[in-house]
Amino acid sequence: MTRIVHVNGQFLPEDQAVVSVFDRGFLMADGVYEVTSVLGGKLIDFAGHCARLARSLAELEMQNPHTDAEWLDLHRELVARNGVVDGMVYLQVTRGNPGDRDFAYPGADTRPTVVLFTQSKPGLAENPAARTGWRVISIPDLRWGRRDIKTVQLLYPSMAKMAARKAQVDDAWFVEDGAVTEGTSNNAYIVKGHRIITRHLSEDILHGITRAAVIRLAREAQMEVVERPFTIAEAKEADEAFVTSASAFVMPVVEVDGAMIGKGTPGPVVARLREIYLEEMRKSAI
Ligand code: PDD
Repeated sequence: MTRIVHVNGQFLPEDQAVVSVFDRGFLMADGVYEVTSVLGGKLIDFAGHCARLARSLAELEMQNPHTDAEWLDLHRELVARNGVVDGMVYLQVTRGNPGDRDFAYPGADTRPTVVLFTQSKPGLAENPAARTGWRVISIPDLRWGRRDIKTVQLLYPSMAKMAARKAQVDDAWFVEDGAVTEGTSNNAYIVKGHRIITRHLSEDILHGITRAAVIRLAREAQMEVVERPFTIAEAKEADEAFVTSASAFVMPVVEVDGAMIGKGTPGPVVARLREIYLEEMRKSAI
């Protein structure tokens, strides 16, 4: 089956969808994106992703081309047309095609470019990696200073992912001024005693939608969550560690820079959080 994608109001087979060579997303990485997961054909935490999209666009003084209701319709239609049961919807909005290359933003007559496509991942929530956990390395955080805006400038995270691959591990954790900021495409946590520790929100990290839900659900389950920076040394001494993202949900981390975390296998706190998160998200999926 050919994948159907969405470009600027049209649903098209993927090989017929085109964007201009002058598009500022292509020339300047002048665009933002969202990834919303789909479980059982329904969207997970859709309102959160819509709210963050609006915030990213506002921070870059870009128009939001759709209302939340329109975004929901587009997501649902794409999921239905592609028969996605489990997977993701990728959404990107760029500042559009001004017809030439210029550093200055174009005027309001340049319409944003809107692209959405699906990625089918049958059994996404039953990812076997959740039973063994990820191994990570640390790497200096050389990204720009507005990581709270979900832009499509993903070259350094890609370089970090390749460094992880070369080291034969699953991912990399960025370190800045001695503390972990986040993973290449996820938020990072350690568990010490009964405490879950994760970096506080600021312009240094993406305000993960999964992070917000996991913290809320952990607190509702009477678990203690402390939002502060932590170091790689602390991670090595932690009982458990994990990352969260829309595609990995709650993923255990069992090794950092070659040092085993806890027993080197996924621990009970992370297993419980993953269970609670998936249960609640399935319930509230739309
Ligand atoms: N990445 N931090 C970074 C740098 C990210 O790129 C992401 C998400 C997260 C987690 O955010 P959320 O819980 O809202 O997915 C944290 C997506 C999944 C991606 O780029 O594919």
